Amino acid sequence: MGTLVGYNKAPIGTGRPHGVLDIADQHFPLTLDEGVPEIRDLYRKAKRSEWNPATDIAWEKLDLSRYTTEELFAARQYWSRRAWSEYGAIAESPAMLLRFTKERREVDLSLFWTIRTQEEVRHADVCRRMADALGGYMSEPVSQDLAGSVATHGVRGMSFDADTPLEALIASLICCAEVIAFDVFRALIKTTTDPVAKQILQLIFRDEVRHCDFGWYYMDYRAPHMSAAELVVVRDKVVWMIEDVELKGYHSTWLSPFPDVSEIESDRLVYEAGLGATVEEVEMPVLVKSVAGIRARMRSWGVELPEFEHTGMGRF
Ligand SMILES: [Fe+2]
Ligand SMILES: [Fe+2]
Repeated sequence: MGTLVGYNKAPIGTGRPHGVLDIADQHFPLTLDEGVPEIRDLYRKAKRSEWNPATDIAWEKLDLSRYTTEELFAARQYWSRRAWSEYGAIAESPAMLLRFTKERREVDLSLFWTIRTQEEVRHADVCRRMADALGGYMSEPVSQDLAGSVATHGVRGMSFDADTPLEALIASLICCAEVIAFDVFRALIKTTTDPVAKQILQLIFRDEVRHCDFGWYYMDYRAPHMSAAELVVVRDKVVWMIEDVELKGYHSTWLSPFPDVSEIESDRLVYEAGLGATVEEVEMPVLVKSVAGIRARMRSWGVELPEFEHTGMGRF
């Protein structure tokens, strides 16, 4: 295992929501040695796995004559929404990078994260191109009610919050939210039959494997060095992410206490046409299994997740 660098962590318990920004910049000594070899390896893999949304997709295979006007409109909405959420990953990215550098974390994190951001750029770009190819990208939700559901889940705020250890951020944002999205994505690829939609999803999936691995590798490395108090914050943030973000419909409106019926119907059209999107009966078992997997893996850090409850899903 690599050498532990001297962190410059913000003191916990100060009640300073932007406390991380107050950490004095310290550039030297700058250690560029490998700190977490698994993450350095992900960085190398990411560089070898670049693809180009303009030239690496068989766009000519998209045959719009196979779909109805309603299906195409719904698919334009779906792929536009995908682009917005990929853009969300770009928007939150610098806050994380700033945190890594302010706290003088292992340099592997910054190297990988920079490439990870480029990958999210690719994802937003390819989804926008797909929406365009289907008839036109939409730059905002058709129904303004939807605007709230695509807003960011507060990662930027948490990134600067001195009372949220970086590990709690990584555990909730990556090992929980991104892992659930990844598991749903796997199901999505299976049910998508349009060749172009499928190819796009497969290429995004290849990148997302690394994004999830990044979270697990770093947490497996850090957990043994963390105090019981820090692990409690990790647990609380993961529980918050599941109960207040996922189960409130952040990723899937059918989970929301106030589901958007038009979005559910529109997604079903896209799903049945094989153009992407998943539906409740596909997602529910995936979600249950995904949370069970997360619970088992976090147990090895000394983090015990509770049972969760949802009106439509029961206890899991
Ligand atoms: Fe992405
Ligand atoms: Fe990602």
